[in-house]
Amino acid sequence: MANEYYVGYNKIHKLVKSLAEEITASGFTPDVIVAIGSGGFIPARIMKTYINRPIFTVGISYYGVDQQHFSYPKKIQWIDETRQQLEGQRVLLIDEVDDTRVTLSYCIGELLNHKPEEIAVAVLQNKRKVKGAQFPPEIKLYFAGEEIDDLWIKYPWDALEIDEHLLMCGKKEIEV
Ligand code: G4P
Ligand code: MG
Repeated sequence: MANEYYVGYNKIHKLVKSLAEEITASGFTPDVIVAIGSGGFIPARIMKTYINRPIFTVGISYYGVDQQHFSYPKKIQWIDETRQQLEGQRVLLIDEVDDTRVTLSYCIGELLNHKPEEIAVAVLQNKRKVKGAQFPPEIKLYFAGEEIDDLWIKYPWDALEIDEHLLMCGKKEIEV
């Protein structure tokens, strides 16, 4: 379909590498990585190769079955709040895509309750579009691996046949 954008593992790895370089160059040194599941899991793991910090995961979903939006994002898994693992910490928050920004902003709002010192946000792709939510003013650092039009991104972890997915990515995938 014309409005789809296929992305492969190689490209994702390289996007994360360039994000890590940008984050390091900014002077931000995270204490912990927080991955927003499920899309942020694999990018966060790759990030750990470049910025070796413990990964915590949170699960938030804005879509129910049949791609229907819930009326608000739902927490489906959260960091053990009693251990206050984020208090005073510099958090690198990772998700795969900044689309409407609703899930991301909700997640940031919840993480701020844990009183981190700072939260920096990193995504593989940011879609250029009118966003449904804005980041709170506490967010000073934002990194996007690439800026894209409002396309539907096809990620390799959703592929039933990874070889077909790679073909859809085109030759560029192995060249980039
Ligand atoms: P945002 O705050 O990160 O912009 O997310 P938003 O609420 O707009 O999007 C909700 C869900 O839609 C997220 O999945 C996000 O990953 C997914 N999504 C948005 N755009 C795309 C896209 O172009 N391609 C794909 N494959 N997914 C997209 P989720 O409910 O958090 O579930 P999960 O897939 O991460 O588990
Ligand atoms: Mg997601």
